[in-house]
Amino acid sequence: MRKRKVSFELAIFESLDALSSEDRDLMKRAMEARKGAYAPYSNFQVGAAVLMDNGKIVLGNNQENASYPSGLCAERVAIFQAGALYPGVTVRAIAISATSKSYVVGQAAAPCGNCRQSISEYEIRQGSPIKIVMMGEIGEVLACDSIADILPLAFDRSYLE
Ligand code: THU
Repeated sequence: MRKRKVSFELAIFESLDALSSEDRDLMKRAMEARKGAYAPYSNFQVGAAVLMDNGKIVLGNNQENASYPSGLCAERVAIFQAGALYPGVTVRAIAISATSKSYVVGQAAAPCGNCRQSISEYEIRQGSPIKIVMMGEIGEVLACDSIADILPLAFDRSYLE
């Protein structure tokens, strides 16, 4: 038996102000996007902003459904929209922000497992990393350089060949 340590570097910024101007602008767009969320069941509004290599920013927010599993997270709404609008264009980064009608979200919103898997598909397909920048409504901002950092041992197309 041998062991391999899998680790990654998480950047922790005290606030939005500590980010680079590119990341801060992207996060501001994600915060803006939260306003369009349709979240009457969870009261948890998530916004996502995807930065493309052509400079375009594509937004998404969570869209819930009375049949709960039919709803979709903000990150997937955004990345699927990016793929639909700009096929073949590399995705550089995604910023995610969350707020709630019930409490002040001070914890950075990390993408759920399904969203990590979906973002991973784009990262592998394009062959370059997608930066993930995460925030709540207030507080620290977390960032990692690649979705692979937070989805190690991902299931990918290599299993299907
Ligand atoms: N949600 C997201 O939009 N992104 C995530 O990564 C986690 C959860 C949404 C789904 C649902 O509308 C609400 O947050 C509560 O789970």
